[in-house]
Amino acid sequence: MKRVGILTSGGDCQGLNASIRAVAKSLYNYYGKEDVEIYGIIDGYRGLIYGEYRLMKPENFSGILTQGGTILGTSRQPFKLMRVIDENSVDKVASMKDNYKKLKLDCLVILGGNGTQKTANLLSEEGLNVVSMPKTIDNDLWGTDMTFGFQSAVNIATNVIDCIHTTATSHGRVFIVEVMGHKVGWLTLYAGIAGGADVILIPEIPYDINSVIKTVKQRTESGKNFSILAVAEGAITKEFAAMPKKQRKAAVAEMPYPSISYQIAHEIEQATGQETRVTVPGHFQRGGSPCPYDRVLCTRLGAKAAELIINKKYGNMVALVNNEIVSVPLSEIAGKLKAVPKDSEVIKAAKTLGISFGE
Ligand code: F6P
Repeated sequence: MKRVGILTSGGDCQGLNASIRAVAKSLYNYYGKEDVEIYGIIDGYRGLIYGEYRLMKPENFSGILTQGGTILGTSRQPFKLMRVIDENSVDKVASMKDNYKKLKLDCLVILGGNGTQKTANLLSEEGLNVVSMPKTIDNDLWGTDMTFGFQSAVNIATNVIDCIHTTATSHGRVFIVEVMGHKVGWLTLYAGIAGGADVILIPEIPYDINSVIKTVKQRTESGKNFSILAVAEGAITKEFAAMPKKQRKAAVAEMPYPSISYQIAHEIEQATGQETRVTVPGHFQRGGSPCPYDRVLCTRLGAKAAELIINKKYGNMVALVNNEIVSVPLSEIAGKLKAVPKDSEVIKAAKTLGISFGE
């Protein structure tokens, strides 16, 4: 009997269920339904710490390819607190190891983003058999060209920009669409380009508000009555970016606006006199069905994860590299952030078209 645990951890995204399904169906297919037991760990690492899980049935994995969210539930369990004993005196790492052993698991499949992969690596170093899968709308996981969830979120954010375009044109307004991504700007960059934004502001390229205002004014002078800005949650001014981390955090916390987009909107309105509005799609970007691209990616990644389990190639994350599905050691990726390279071809292409990054 093969016994496999599976958990989803961190912020959810589209494609979690499609991935779970792909792993489960591949395993049932290979071993036969009678010879594999799959345990769904509830709410991510929390379930593994506190022993909350359920034995899944093959039918639990049917009809979930297109379903958003995660049938297993998820929670955020910060990596930096994993070694900290909790308020009930629970040693989280020891407890996760105990529950893994209690369940007599041959392997644990972990679906998650950056923090999740760090803990997956920790568990692997602690001797558990781990295979992980790259999840996040942020696409900021090292070791994979693409994470699942990203393309679905790009579709949603692009649709928002498309819709905003028509109302911005009707009213002759400036619109800021705030796109998710505190640390990296992949989603803003792709949705911004796909949606035809005039200005794209991402954390990797700190902006100068005067440059942003200049772009808006130039558009008005050239007869365009509206402008669209795609702004990442984590967009940052050159001034803030130059500050030491602690000072920067304090300065951001003191901002008299709910987010950076509102400050930018205020500054544009003041300088140009043009009505400026902010739209924040927020968690909408993580919801709903995975797009076809993600369904295919999740299926490929899930099949590879099953292959790693079958071949006992533990301690790896499945990944997409140069359009091939491969495995990468968790030790090579844990703790590394994949930011947008400033000199990437996609940024150059956007600049070639005249899209401003507010530099
Ligand atoms: O990491 C995914 C993400 O959606 C980010 O883009 C966003 O900044 C963050 O999670 C939001 O976190 P929460 O769901 O905890 O509000």
